[in-house]
Amino acid sequence: MPFDEIFPRMPAGETRKVHTAGTHRIVPPETTLARVTPFLPVMGITRVANVTGLDTIGIPVVMVTRPNARSVSVSQGKGVTLAAARASGVMESIETYHAERIAHPVKFASYEDLRWTHRVADVTRLPHRADGTFSPHTPILWIEGMELMSGTPMWVPFETVHLNFTVPMPPGSGAFIAGSNGLASGNHPLEAIVHAIGELVERDAATLWHLRSAAEQEDTRIDLSTVGDPLCRSMLQRFEDAGVDAAVWELTSDIGLPAFLCRIVPREDLPRHSVRPASGMGCHCAREVALARALTEAAQSRLTFISGARDDMPRGEYLRHLDPAAVARWQRRIRGGGGGRDFALCPTAPGRTVEEDLRDQLARLRRAGIDEVVAVDLTKPEFGIPVVRVVIPGLEGIADSPEYLLGDRGRAIPEHPAEGHA
Ligand SMILES: Nc1ncnc2c1ncn2[C@@H]1O[C@H](COP(=O)(O)OP(=O)(O)OP(=O)(O)O)[C@@H](O)[C@H]1O
Ligand SMILES: [Mg+2]
Repeated sequence: MPFDEIFPRMPAGETRKVHTAGTHRIVPPETTLARVTPFLPVMGITRVANVTGLDTIGIPVVMVTRPNARSVSVSQGKGVTLAAARASGVMESIETYHAERIAHPVKFASYEDLRWTHRVADVTRLPHRADGTFSPHTPILWIEGMELMSGTPMWVPFETVHLNFTVPMPPGSGAFIAGSNGLASGNHPLEAIVHAIGELVERDAATLWHLRSAAEQEDTRIDLSTVGDPLCRSMLQRFEDAGVDAAVWELTSDIGLPAFLCRIVPREDLPRHSVRPASGMGCHCAREVALARALTEAAQSRLTFISGARDDMPRGEYLRHLDPAAVARWQRRIRGGGGGRDFALCPTAPGRTVEEDLRDQLARLRRAGIDEVVAVDLTKPEFGIPVVRVVIPGLEGIADSPEYLLGDRGRAIPEHPAEGHA
């Protein structure tokens, strides 16, 4: 089905990739920045700060502040160039602004009331809260999206789409896991959707991987000498030059989209220094981009600790990573073992256009037993910046919080002693 027909309100057009260094985009990051910069003051974005120099690694990282935010007021961006990092940080702040201020009509109804007259997503397969209040007979808010496999409208719980955390919360809140997973923006609606699906597949793959035994996890460790991509090599060299040990594991799930986890730790113990072990993940149809995303995100998350600017990072989170036992565990994990997996044998299937990538993602999801991929178009006509929230019932969410209730895919994995979700 042509995607222009599914999204008649969204600008169609050619989705040929022109930029493929570290991210696949239909325009270079400089063009994205030039387009969106005039809107930043309107959205309350007051600062885009290059914080790369606070660390010694040198992989570009920025932080973007939006003080009047209704969720997180600091976004971060990373990239293989400073322009790419700025585009990523600014676009994350922009998409969050959109999800905080949704102006679409919503419906207040119970699942049982709605399902007779509306196509409703399979709520039983959405990530639920362990302490959740969901009942098919309790009214909650719903918002309409477009189900991409069938090309027909489908309603999803509003709680899985919006990010307005000002109180009081809307009625019916507290049933499903609410967060930014699957929220994305881009230079084209399909670019945003592809990024959102990649993020959801990455989180699902990570949750499943963390449920595996330590031996199974170790089997997925990459032999870094097999990484031939020059950009990834140069970033690994930056870690090396900065005295940072890095290790990479392949997270790729049955869905088959390449996904990686990178963990980094300072080679020397640095007492009284705010440098912590850090990690990053990436998922992308092109394996070298998936890896580049994991490497840049590891550098970004180290800077999160160094800059201390994130308002959603409680003090306990800093202390947890400062714990000498935790640092020693990380060092053992990263330095111990070698990693035997050949990066050149990891899957990779980049399309020529973003549309090809989307078709490939949908086909893979279908083969893995997923039959609903709902995209809620959050684009605001006054800006014209494509923003979507994608909701995929059946995929696992981020399972690192106590309130996360494991879904079918996670429960299908035999239990092992917990290794810790790092
Ligand atoms: N060059 C770019 N042009 C347009 N949009 C971009 C560009 N780079 C990133 N974005 C968008 O900015 C948002 C943040 O992207 P980023 O690459 O930082 O990854 P992320 O994995 O979504 O980060 P996180 O894991 O913190 O959510 C995404 O919605 C992405 O599509
Ligand atoms: Mg994101």
